[in-house]
Amino acid sequence: MRLPPFSRTPRIVPSILSADFARLGDELAAVEAAGADWVQIDVMDGHFVPNLTFGPDTVAALAKTTRTALDVHLMIAPAEPFLEAFVKAGADLLTVHAEASTHLFRSLQRIRALGARAGVALNPATPPSAIEYVLGEVDLVLVMTVNPGFGGQDFLPAMLPKIRAIREMIAGRPIWIEVDGGVAPDTVTLCREAGADVFVAGSAVFRGGPAAHAKNIAALRAAAGP
Ligand code: DX5
Repeated sequence: MRLPPFSRTPRIVPSILSADFARLGDELAAVEAAGADWVQIDVMDGHFVPNLTFGPDTVAALAKTTRTALDVHLMIAPAEPFLEAFVKAGADLLTVHAEASTHLFRSLQRIRALGARAGVALNPATPPSAIEYVLGEVDLVLVMTVNPGFGGQDFLPAMLPKIRAIREMIAGRPIWIEVDGGVAPDTVTLCREAGADVFVAGSAVFRGGPAAHAKNIAALRAAAGP
């Protein structure tokens, strides 16, 4: 397990969806060196979301090159047939969408049984009530702050009250709230105030190339505050 123990300390997590796909290993090393807390890999199937990206073999190849925790976000349906493959490939945290799982409770139990931390993701229209009965099975709740599928989209401010509602629902449980989509210095502050802990950023980290990664990550961390 390379994920840090739970705390509400803000975490900055680059999403490699915005990286240079011709140099993924180098890009991973660059964001690690630039201060990333861990890295998110966006898995897309062209069915649950209108885009296609990586499979277990890519995750396995990247896992061999790094000691940084890999947060694998499955934007696929069904997710159940692939849980074991992604954990075996090296996912330290595996997140499934509540909207993509017929048996969400069982999927989350299975992820933990396989030895990874379990995350559940909510698309923008999905209410917090969808995860009310699985809080005992998760280590992280991912609130999508864009419609999933692509980087570089505008942040959805309508998600701020949803983050607040989930923060209240979680109460004192050791569960991270992760936000993903349109995360940049201005929106990090809003999400932190609403109750988020983990900030996934693609374009806000990778823009400007490797020379800008450290400055970009530092700006996000400063905006998140203590
Ligand atoms: C969107 C992905 C996000 C995306 C974030 O479907 O899940 O992780 O890469 O990219 P930015 O930070 O550019 O919105």
